[in-house]
Amino acid sequence: MAWKTLDEVELAGKVALVRVDINVPVENGVVTDATRILKIVPTVKDILAKGGKPVLLAHFGRPKGQVVPEMSLRPLVPELEKALGAPVKFAEDCIGGPAKTAVAALEAGEVLLLENTRFHAGEEKNDPELSAAMAALGEVYVNDAFSAAHRAHSSTEGVAHILPSAAGRLMEAELKALEAALGAPVRPVCAVVGGAKVSTKLDLLGNLVSKVDHLIIGGGMANTFLVAQGIDVGKSLAEREMAETARDILEKAKTAGCAIHLPVDVVVAREFKANAENETVPNTDCPSDAMILDAGPKSVEEIATVFEASKTLIWNGPLGAFEIAPFDAATNAAAQKAAELTQDGKLTSVAGGGDTVAALNKAGAAEDFSYISTAGGAFLEWMEGKELPGVAALMK
Ligand code: 3PG
Ligand code: MG
Repeated sequence: MAWKTLDEVELAGKVALVRVDINVPVENGVVTDATRILKIVPTVKDILAKGGKPVLLAHFGRPKGQVVPEMSLRPLVPELEKALGAPVKFAEDCIGGPAKTAVAALEAGEVLLLENTRFHAGEEKNDPELSAAMAALGEVYVNDAFSAAHRAHSSTEGVAHILPSAAGRLMEAELKALEAALGAPVRPVCAVVGGAKVSTKLDLLGNLVSKVDHLIIGGGMANTFLVAQGIDVGKSLAEREMAETARDILEKAKTAGCAIHLPVDVVVAREFKANAENETVPNTDCPSDAMILDAGPKSVEEIATVFEASKTLIWNGPLGAFEIAPFDAATNAAAQKAAELTQDGKLTSVAGGGDTVAALNKAGAAEDFSYISTAGGAFLEWMEGKELPGVAALMK
């Protein structure tokens, strides 16, 4: 691999600036999903074990260069201490006097969390002065924030050019999994792309058709592809103005030898609500007053067959309206099939991006996938084939 790992940088007795992504969901002061906090534990513990002093750089929310007290990282300290099993100190600024004093006071075995990097306007501008002020606090830079690596910010990119840098354990795991899924995958490789809109995933679809052998399209965006083929989808969510674009993607796929799979049967209802009365019909038979809310069982069978014929799977986006039963059926069944094949050692399965993880968790399948990314936007940009600045900066 072209980047250094924690095993290749000197950490003993050194202050390691560690960029983490602990941008976790919080409701009424309570962390509702601590996954991102738990995922940084191996890196921080490893640095401690090697005699280093971890100083955590992180953002929280989008304060846009202002000090917004509600977006302070301080309330996350107890959650971090619980996860790390080590004392976590806090500095009320990520640069300057408060940070320097806190770093100087840090004892072996302790961790320091610095206040929200985005309280400084320079962070999102990747301001060299801010990067230098951050770098001045430590001797080594470790980036463990793959999920923020699509941002070219001071703490994710700028600092990497100033200090000796390495990828943390989570960054390493993410990069390895993504490489196995799309960089140099074992073929045949199939992708599942779902979600509401074609328009938000154009680059992604365009990149995938040239890389994967099978592309399974689900969710609202599948309707747009049905429309593109002259099929009436009634009141279904569809971007009718994207039909031409969808046809271009189908054409590009054909040229590239990528088989596109659209739902052959669909579950339709007249209301978008849980347990709405519904029926399953061929994809050509959506009544004019109904909408497609899920893929049907024949489609799921086809998806299972594709999974069985594949060695690698990459998944982004649900196949139907997975938030409301029973329109989560196709997503659940397909996810469970992928999980089963993975557990049998027949499939490498990687998933990521926003809703995807929620959908796979709901299906009870996430734990049995080979790898679930912690990233939303970064995962999508990577699937689009874009270079992630935070990763690129580690490659030297
Ligand atoms: C995320 O949650 O997507 C990452 O932490 C990056 O945050 P951002 O989308 O505000 O840049
Ligand atoms: Mg984001």
